[in-house]
Amino acid sequence: MILILLGPPGAGKGTQAKRIEERFGLLTLSTGDMLRTAVREGTDVGKRAKAVMDAGKLVSDEIIVAIVDEAIGRLEPTQGFILDGVPRTTAQADAIGAILEKRGRTLDHVIEMKVDDTVLTERITGRFTCAKCGAGYHDTFKKTKVAGVCDKCGSREFTRRSDDNADTVKARLKAYHAETAPLLDYYRQRGLIRAVDGMAEIDQVTRQMEQVLTRN
Ligand code: AP5
Repeated sequence: MILILLGPPGAGKGTQAKRIEERFGLLTLSTGDMLRTAVREGTDVGKRAKAVMDAGKLVSDEIIVAIVDEAIGRLEPTQGFILDGVPRTTAQADAIGAILEKRGRTLDHVIEMKVDDTVLTERITGRFTCAKCGAGYHDTFKKTKVAGVCDKCGSREFTRRSDDNADTVKARLKAYHAETAPLLDYYRQRGLIRAVDGMAEIDQVTRQMEQVLTRN
């Protein structure tokens, strides 16, 4: 199975991808994570991407298509996967279509995560992650069971993303509406869109996704 998760910043794409991949034996390819790794490692791609990401703008299609092509190329030929945060432009969507076609793969679903802009700033500015195992949390919506201790690995170190501030969120939302939202029609015309209510609680969103993926 090959899925795309499509939704604005903070819609819950990363949160749900982690849950869906376990349930359906998929791997997640997140361009945001790939770019953050490149920035951390100081690669050429990382150097080119950092300022763009911190400004909340979109990294060039050329870079994105190259890293996605490479990541898909590293998978076993029949391995199912989730694209999280990509495509974000029509050019990326066209290129991903071509990448899948050249490998004889088919896109099964595009899941639209419907969330009102009003809740996104709070979701993003409250997000934090375990520095050791990467488990994701939120100051209000998904606290650790014991304050200051990761539920999964027991680490006491957490990180926050440098682009998770109110100003950058505004720019990221603007980029989403201008460049990514048109992809909803792009995939609707291809009969691939399935929508879930991303305003619901995290467990309920997972259940909606499971229903979508087991029904079809
Ligand atoms: P990326 O890392 O992809 O960020 P994003 O799309 O802005 O998405 P987020 O990771 O912020 O949100 P999410 O939907 O995964 O939400 P999450 O599950 O964490 O991209 C970062 C940057 O990289 C971009 O701005 C761009 O510069 C660049 N980039 C990446 N891909 C690119 C591409 N293809 N083209 C060009 N540039 C690209 O949830 C958020 C918080 O809310 C969490 O704390 C979570 O616990 C909480 N939460 C989740 N669901 C719920 C719920 N249902 N109810 C309450 N709280 C919830």
